[in-house]
Amino acid sequence: MANKLKVVSLSAELEPFAKTGGLGDVALYLPKELIRKKQEVICLSPYYGFIKDNFSKVFESEIRIDDQVFKTSLFKTEIIKRLPKPLNIYLIWQENFFSKREKIYDYPDDGPAFYFFCYSSLYFLEEYFIKKLNFLPDILHCHDWHTGLIPFLIKNKLFLKDQKVATLFTIHNMAYQGPHGLRAKFVPPEKRDNGKNPLPKIYEKEKWNLVNFLKRGILFADSINTVSERYREEILTPEFGEGLEKYLKIREKDLYGIINGIDYSVHNPSVDKNIYFNYDWHSLDKKIKNKIAFQKEFGLEENQNLPLIGLTHRLTEQKGFDLIIKILPTLLKMDLQIVMIGSGKKEYEKYFEKMSFRYPKKIAYLKPFSEVLESKIYAASDLFLLPSRFEPCGISQLKSLRYGSIPIVRKVGGLSQTVFDWNPIKEEGNGFVFLNWDEHELLVAIARAIESFKYKEKWNKLVKKAMRQVFSWDLPASKYLELYKKTINKLKI
Ligand code: GLC
Repeated sequence: MANKLKVVSLSAELEPFAKTGGLGDVALYLPKELIRKKQEVICLSPYYGFIKDNFSKVFESEIRIDDQVFKTSLFKTEIIKRLPKPLNIYLIWQENFFSKREKIYDYPDDGPAFYFFCYSSLYFLEEYFIKKLNFLPDILHCHDWHTGLIPFLIKNKLFLKDQKVATLFTIHNMAYQGPHGLRAKFVPPEKRDNGKNPLPKIYEKEKWNLVNFLKRGILFADSINTVSERYREEILTPEFGEGLEKYLKIREKDLYGIINGIDYSVHNPSVDKNIYFNYDWHSLDKKIKNKIAFQKEFGLEENQNLPLIGLTHRLTEQKGFDLIIKILPTLLKMDLQIVMIGSGKKEYEKYFEKMSFRYPKKIAYLKPFSEVLESKIYAASDLFLLPSRFEPCGISQLKSLRYGSIPIVRKVGGLSQTVFDWNPIKEEGNGFVFLNWDEHELLVAIARAIESFKYKEKWNKLVKKAMRQVFSWDLPASKYLELYKKTINKLKI
């Protein structure tokens, strides 16, 4: 095997063009790190209508599926910033499926659209990348359910019959298995996708809503991984396996865990252009200036001695909002401030709107989500709250650590591998951790954090320690390279 691998990374999200969460981050920053490690990587994603960046058309074709013809084009751009060599990004343009979209998901035809993404990606691999560019990939790195049919189509010999191209399927979240939040455990047994039957015709919209893309990815990929070693263990159990634990067990020896990283050339308070004042662990006085400027901008009481708690995640059950809502009235009686951003479940949104209206000096709820505000929250806050019910990896706690906003988390998934309870006597740890899914435990963790914040000398030690920790992509990307090689070798046996 050549030292330089040819990798195609496929995903429905890709920062900076289309993103709702961590998937978009990983889809960009892992390939960037692989380029730094001198590998040949390209990214492939849909060209949604809301993407306004300039791409150039490199190829077009009429793709025939089930007697329907789809005029489809391939567009290209390059990402060059802070890279030794450009990263090539290709987007697939198709009038019916992607170009009318104003957001990524939640259209009635999500099933056929992501099937089309899988199908056309493989089509362009054969017709353009292999035939025209002479680029024969060693491995296809497929991310999440939207790409789960790629391993299925290859193993059923619809594409790449004559080549040996390996597939790695990365699961970022077991709770999303197909269109419209499909989850095996909520589907009546007689309607569950067995993972092996032929696929519906592309125009049979309704039938697609029961196709479990994730399950098919799990059953047919050469290797599978999740985004932390801990979550890899968790999803083999009914509590976290979301009804697919049985199939993960079948594939256990091909199932791996690799924790995500972050890109410190971007997510770093010393270079971030979105914050009020740049700083690093030598200049914590400037972190305080960020806090005061933020309190001023958003109408909170201007007081550096009040601990400011930030939240930047989507308002979903996964992120622990049920627990937070239970204790919020108690929290608001304490000497602290809360700032949050984002959207999600309407009922949560309404509740936080109401509370921020009632207590404007204590809680600010900012909408819509923007990366500028997200950065400002990391820079201004003293604490970062992420009490997840489950957390495959979690990227925001890694960002918050670098910005010196100390995470309060539940010991679960990737959080349990990155945040460790602070022991002020031994000066060990980097955050505040609780174990059980219980609002009292969460409250105690927050109370411990608020109390620790009062002892400034020790607190600054904790903040400096957190900011100096390294969770970059360097090590995870090396582990992915090893896994790619292992996976490619499986095809040789
Ligand atoms: C999903 C998971 C999150 C993970 C991210 C990137 O959003 O919920 O834990 O960090 O994917 O892998």
